[in-house]
Amino acid sequence: MVASYTDLLGRRYRGRLDQDADDFIGFAIDGVKRMQALIDDLLQYARLTNEANVAKRPVDLSAVVDDVVRLYGPTIGETSAHVDREPLPTIPGSPTLLRQLFRNLIGNALKFRHPDRPPVVHIGALAKGDAWEVTIADNGIGVQPEFKVRIFAIFQRLHPRERYPGTGMGLTICKRIVEQHGGTIWVESAPDGGAAFHLTLRASPEAA
Ligand SMILES: Nc1ncnc2c1ncn2[C@@H]1O[C@H](COP(=O)(O)OP(=O)(O)OP(=O)(O)O)[C@@H](O)[C@H]1O
Ligand SMILES: [Mg+2]
Repeated sequence: MVASYTDLLGRRYRGRLDQDADDFIGFAIDGVKRMQALIDDLLQYARLTNEANVAKRPVDLSAVVDDVVRLYGPTIGETSAHVDREPLPTIPGSPTLLRQLFRNLIGNALKFRHPDRPPVVHIGALAKGDAWEVTIADNGIGVQPEFKVRIFAIFQRLHPRERYPGTGMGLTICKRIVEQHGGTIWVESAPDGGAAFHLTLRASPEAA
């Protein structure tokens, strides 16, 4: 209701009041849109918390990543990005959640690109005992050491949203998804030298 009335005000009264009024209505419309995005993300996160035991079946991570890369096709084209992956394992998991995990990580790698170079994103995997360590590495703006932990907290963002849009829920959701697959997630980065997100995922179904 708030959204539809601010929208109506914007459409019906633009240019009929004064410049300040147009600006204020514009701010209200932006605020409503942002609130909607936050609520959607929060709901998604809440649902995730409630599904402690997500149904798991074999998921081919290569297929998941290829699917996500296709989804970002337009962005990849516009930014002349280069995205490649090594062969990735099949692990027990939730296809929907794992897709969401890679969507945010690959999306971040493209979004937080360096202004002076086209994005290069590499996705690889290493066997580590009974787990796989998957890495999503980019050549973007990087994450300063003091923010390496904080970026996984809810609503934490390091940049103004005018420059990089988003709510700051993405990595919080990623962390939860990884934890639900028996793993952990962390970032390594040299300032200006890109960021590498590492995550572990259980390689075989957990013992009862
Ligand atoms: N690949 C990356 N390179 C540099 N900084 C990153 C990268 N990924 C995340 N960050 C930093 O961590 C913050 C949190 O990331 P997160 O994905 O949670 O939020 P977002 O992308 O800003 O918004 P959302 O994912 O909710 O749309 C980002 O705002 C950014 O500052
Ligand atoms: Mg994100």
